[in-house]
Amino acid sequence: MMIEPARAKLNLALHIRGKREDGYHELETLFAFVEFGDKISVDVAEEDRLAITGPYAEALTGLEGDNLVCRARDLFRERFGIDDKVAITLAKHLPVASGIGGGSADAAATLRAMARQFGIATDHPELMRCAETLGSDVPACLFGRTAIGRGRGEKLEAVDDVAGIPALLVNPGVAVSTPAVFARWSGEASDGLAPGRAIQSAMASRNDLQPPAIALQSVIGDVIKLLDRQQGARLVRMSGSGATCFALFARADECHRAAANVRAAQPGWWCSETALA
Ligand code: C5P
Repeated sequence: MMIEPARAKLNLALHIRGKREDGYHELETLFAFVEFGDKISVDVAEEDRLAITGPYAEALTGLEGDNLVCRARDLFRERFGIDDKVAITLAKHLPVASGIGGGSADAAATLRAMARQFGIATDHPELMRCAETLGSDVPACLFGRTAIGRGRGEKLEAVDDVAGIPALLVNPGVAVSTPAVFARWSGEASDGLAPGRAIQSAMASRNDLQPPAIALQSVIGDVIKLLDRQQGARLVRMSGSGATCFALFARADECHRAAANVRAAQPGWWCSETALA
């Protein structure tokens, strides 16, 4: 059996450079990952099965056919000419449709686990082509390292390591539609990300999807305000198209205190105290 972590991705910054003919947006975004996430396990079996466990299993139940995990499994077998059946377990710890790439991370972890199960190198170039087919964030999740993403997000350039920085992730429990947020973007194209090392660049940049997401779900603005008030929060921002927001701290005890404050103020919100990976 092969077990692979499916770490949550953050967009430490996201600049929209323009709208493309194909309907997608040209991006320059800084991807990072946190220790916390879902988990995928793959094993050969008599027939195909997908079991979903964990706190967010229910949100996906009944949608197995549409699940990005199944699409990753099927695409992998098609591209590598493999017929074997597999049993997959997805431990779903990340909120669904929340801007931290849960589905994309699951798909990337499935590709990696399938590759290991069937003796294919995890850096095989065809795996990256599978990832591009599955979604804009899947290549970054397969790459799995802090990187600048350009194009739809699939053209990746590794940047300096940011591992260990304490991070607090907060989601107010509203699902946000990515196409709806992009559709609300002002249309004013941004320049590229600010120059410098990853964290400095992120601090001097923004997430262009944050204002349109707040316009659709004002509670995201409340999350930002609550995180901004936490002592030691160095960078507070929404990730992706939301609604999850994050705060980065210099020290783990500051992150811990902020997590306690958020849980006390908003017991119904999802809150994960973790670190950049
Ligand atoms: O590639 P993916 O299927 O994950 O994209 C979901 C949606 O997000 C697209 O249909 C599009 O509306 C929007 N999107 C975009 N520009 C990108 C990435 C995603 O407009 N670079």
